[in-house]
Amino acid sequence: MNIAVAQSGGPTCAINASLMGVFRHAVKYDEIKTVYGSVNGIEGLIKDHIVDLKNIIKTDEDVELIRQTPSTLLGSCRYKLPDFEKDESVYKSITHTLKRHNIGAFFYIGGNDSMDTVDKLHRYFTKENIDIKVIGIPKTIDNDLPYTDHTPGFGSAAKYVATTIQEITRDSSVYSIPSVTIVEIMGRDTGWLTAATAVLRANGEVSPHLIYLPENKFSVRRFIDDVREAQNKHYAVIVAVSEGVSPDPEEVGGDFQSGYVDNFGHKYLAGVAKALSKIVAKEIGCKVRAIELNVMQRCSSHISSKRDITEAERIGGAAVKVALDGYSGVTMVFKRVSNHPYIIRIEHVETSLVANKVKYFPLEWINENGHDVTQDAIDYCLPLIQGEQNLQVRNGLPIQFVLKERL
Ligand code: F6P
Repeated sequence: MNIAVAQSGGPTCAINASLMGVFRHAVKYDEIKTVYGSVNGIEGLIKDHIVDLKNIIKTDEDVELIRQTPSTLLGSCRYKLPDFEKDESVYKSITHTLKRHNIGAFFYIGGNDSMDTVDKLHRYFTKENIDIKVIGIPKTIDNDLPYTDHTPGFGSAAKYVATTIQEITRDSSVYSIPSVTIVEIMGRDTGWLTAATAVLRANGEVSPHLIYLPENKFSVRRFIDDVREAQNKHYAVIVAVSEGVSPDPEEVGGDFQSGYVDNFGHKYLAGVAKALSKIVAKEIGCKVRAIELNVMQRCSSHISSKRDITEAERIGGAAVKVALDGYSGVTMVFKRVSNHPYIIRIEHVETSLVANKVKYFPLEWINENGHDVTQDAIDYCLPLIQGEQNLQVRNGLPIQFVLKERL
């Protein structure tokens, strides 16, 4: 048989490593002839736009370069499959592509929304008695997938946001004048990535002085009080705020979000740091900067976590074995066996348990004032950011593998 693999949702630094995990493991099995890549996630299967990965990945060096290249080699999508009970047409197109290319297993690397696709496809194939296995491979910088200790991509993003906060802290502290720097960090509904900035404490750094997560109700009044209190101790106050924190629009001069909503109903979030900086300027009147880390936090491969990249590849490889063992409608997960030494086990769970569900940052890991996280968060995150990739460079710049150029 042949297999197909696709990448979906927001990019990360590790999603290409999972693709390499699938590819490198699959080519070892005699029963798998061709490994196809579906271009732009599930859309590639709908449009029969798939590529034979052996025509693209020709050498071990290609594998190395893809592993160190951020974003999704095969493109991505935010495509929500309709319920097949209401509309089967798209499922028929997918089945047609899969059957035409004799594909017996499909691997989907993505987050909670992509697991919705895995679940629906698996249920459709079961109903139609079609023997095509569907396996989910997790990824997301948001780290919000249930049943897995963490998601590939999170460790690298965490390493980036923490390092960047450290650098911002040095830069912001040069003048002996009071200032407030508010750094906005991705994560949508959950604060995992913002909380990860606290790992700096392991190296004696006090910053970020204030940390706000969407799991906690946000009060603008309390925020201003917190900033004032922090200014009593630090003249350059650094605030890490999650993009998902939602201050009352009335308190920040109206709704600052664009209103754009994706196919899964998620609001495109951006601008909370800017909105809060205006309040600080008005209420406190000191120098204030808003920094939105934006997509840099999910594509900064130059500072990716080696452990994250290695684990991403491992979980991709393990998925191939799971499909060959006959499983379908399952998602690969990490179980943390111990922290010291750090040991994880790779397992799989029913995708229906994971699809569209959100794993929130534990409330008990937020301090009682709601503006910091506890040591548990630091202990949880630290192992995930370990190790540096030995990047291949040309002219002093990382070399990246770009599919379109090759084609
Ligand atoms: O799903 C990961 C993520 O990066 C979120 O942190 C963020 O809110 C969202 O994607 C941004 O979506 P898009 O890539 O569509 O701009």
